Amino acid sequence: MVNVGVIGCGYWGPNLIRNFQQNSDSKVVKISDLREGRLEFIKGLYPEVITTQDANEIINDPNIQAVVIATPVNTHKDLAIQAMRNGKHVFVEKPLTESIVAAEELVSEAKKLNKIVAVGHIFQFAPAVSALKREIEAGTLGKVYHYSSQRINLGPPKTTVDVLWDLAPHDLSIVLYLFGESPSKVIAHGSSNWWEGYVDNAHILMDFPSGKTAHIHLSWLSSKKTRRTMLFGEYGNFEYDETLPDESKVVYYDKGIDNRINAKDNEKVNLQYGVGEVRPVEVVKGEPLALEVNAFIQAIMSGVPPINDGNIGMEVVKILEAATKSMKGI
Ligand SMILES: NC(=O)c1ccc[n+]([C@@H]2O[C@H](COP(=O)([O-])OP(=O)(O)OC[C@H]3O[C@@H](n4cnc5c(N)ncnc54)[C@H](O)[C@@H]3O)[C@@H](O)[C@H]2O)c1
Repeated sequence: MVNVGVIGCGYWGPNLIRNFQQNSDSKVVKISDLREGRLEFIKGLYPEVITTQDANEIINDPNIQAVVIATPVNTHKDLAIQAMRNGKHVFVEKPLTESIVAAEELVSEAKKLNKIVAVGHIFQFAPAVSALKREIEAGTLGKVYHYSSQRINLGPPKTTVDVLWDLAPHDLSIVLYLFGESPSKVIAHGSSNWWEGYVDNAHILMDFPSGKTAHIHLSWLSSKKTRRTMLFGEYGNFEYDETLPDESKVVYYDKGIDNRINAKDNEKVNLQYGVGEVRPVEVVKGEPLALEVNAFIQAIMSGVPPINDGNIGMEVVKILEAATKSMKGI
């Protein structure tokens, strides 16, 4: 049984607490938040759990093996390093840190102390993303050309980060996971409209060493919540819509034109655009957060880092920083 302490129970923390409580190999024993009202709320749900306004009471507790950090991004690095220096494994919400320098410090400290770092890249555990990964590895698309996604909704009522740092970690962790490589070039464009002082509409474009490309649109301006991803390849496309039920979340569209016919044979047939096979892709049922929490606990028990380890967390921060510089024209 892994005893867990959770620091931060604002909007997202309670979801993590619920999943660590439900996992048969972990138990939440202590929860910390600076706001008394949040502790009262959580005590109402879990009367047996100890609550405190002082995160050090979790960090210094010898009875706790794993610390979950669900606080604003500018606090992640210091809390995580203090926890690791006190012998804890850490689960840090996305994005891992607010800068690449901080991410490098955190990851190198984890290596030195031999601690597991998991980053809250929930979509690496979404069954639909696992299905896409499986299909790519099986060669369904042939050569993969391009990833295009749109993650748009109305912005949060309050924020400490812009739309890029809020929403892009999801798409970036998906694209890094699916492509298995890091971009060689990142450019971005953003504008501030409703949220004064914060970019609330942004586009990221990326080139990868293998020739693949990606485009991500992020926005807080959309009244319609959209979570749509297209993957384009040699033989067809995948469409993934996170808002749809599991049976129709991922669909494969075959090209309809066999472009494997060589140029000479092309002359003998009347090529025309056509609708190829349209096939729903099986998505196994499962709550992404439960799977993510379980992967962290299993990593602690086995000593094998999870797929959302500090290295991919650091890559995401590197792209966020490059995109921010590009938006500012630096
Ligand atoms: N994985 C996801 O889908 C997802 C979704 C939402 C938020 N998040 C991430 O979770 C983190 C928190 O986001 P949120 O929306 O819950 O923010 P929030 O502001 O609602 O909650 C953060 C809480 O942390 C507390 N806090 C801050 N410093 C603290 C400290 N030193 N000790 C104890 N408590 C402290 C605050 O009082 C607050 O209640 C962010 O990194 C965010 O990006 C992830």
